Amino acid sequence: MSVKLVVVGSANMDMVAFAPKLPAPGETVLGTRFEMACGGKGANQAVACARLGADTWFVGRVGVDAFGDMLLRSFREAGVHTDFVRRDAETSSGVALIFVDEKGQNEIVVAPGANGRVSRDDIDNASAVWDNCKALLVQFEIPLSTVGYAIGEASRHGAIVVVNPAPAPREPLPEEWFGLVDVWTPNEREIEGLTGVAVTDMESAEKATKAMLDKGAKAVVLTLGANGSLVATPDFIRHFPAFPVQAVDATAAGDAFAAALTVRLAEGAPLEEAVIFANAAGALACTKVGAQPSMPKREEVEGFLQTQPLPI
Ligand code: RIB
Repeated sequence: MSVKLVVVGSANMDMVAFAPKLPAPGETVLGTRFEMACGGKGANQAVACARLGADTWFVGRVGVDAFGDMLLRSFREAGVHTDFVRRDAETSSGVALIFVDEKGQNEIVVAPGANGRVSRDDIDNASAVWDNCKALLVQFEIPLSTVGYAIGEASRHGAIVVVNPAPAPREPLPEEWFGLVDVWTPNEREIEGLTGVAVTDMESAEKATKAMLDKGAKAVVLTLGANGSLVATPDFIRHFPAFPVQAVDATAAGDAFAAALTVRLAEGAPLEEAVIFANAAGALACTKVGAQPSMPKREEVEGFLQTQPLPI
């Protein structure tokens, strides 16, 4: 039977321009092509959770516009429940402008639109989602006050709480969150935003995860791109190498990772096993272009893992 999960977060229409290199400030770069795809960290994670086999409910907002129609269609095609997605007539759907270079690296600017208005009220309207819910997955593309409220509600209902702190917060997080969140999944930039420790190598990566533990974090899974991920809890610290793939677009690899980790934790897997599964999902997401189009299915991740030597 599928585990039930809730994702509270953002949905964006992604406008993606591919170019040989990312532009420096003030520079114009001639690109190679353009694509539009459904995205948004919350929506990507919800689509990924559903493709990975979870009974997934999304709470968020889209505008009353063509992008909102497309975002809702994408949720439904993936099997995500949209009963608690509000259509907001006061603003437009969220949009992300994304540049991808020939190594698959990206730069993203998000215009939040309706995502910026996801409120406590939306969480209260969705109170039915907590029945039998095994886990909540949230990110930071909606107001932090709403994120905090969702964390509190999930924790009160006994759900595992996974926070993907992306994009890096511009203000310190409330201290009480650290006691409520079960697992944090920052990347290098996000953990620097949370701890002030810049990650430049494995030593500084360990220092940054320890700084999160010092703040009261129960478990941190730091994603390091091609260098895999570093897992730190008060009991152990362990590096998991990345699975080698031919990357064409790293957009939403972190979303696939966070979703896969949450699904396996909700299914009762130990943290280390969940991280290996998440590393595989993140690697596969890099092999396809676009955010939601690249979110892998359960059978793809399991099939891929069978071809790889697994860390002992
Ligand atoms: O994590 C990738 C996502 O970040 C993109 O889909 C874009 O919409 C931004 O939210």
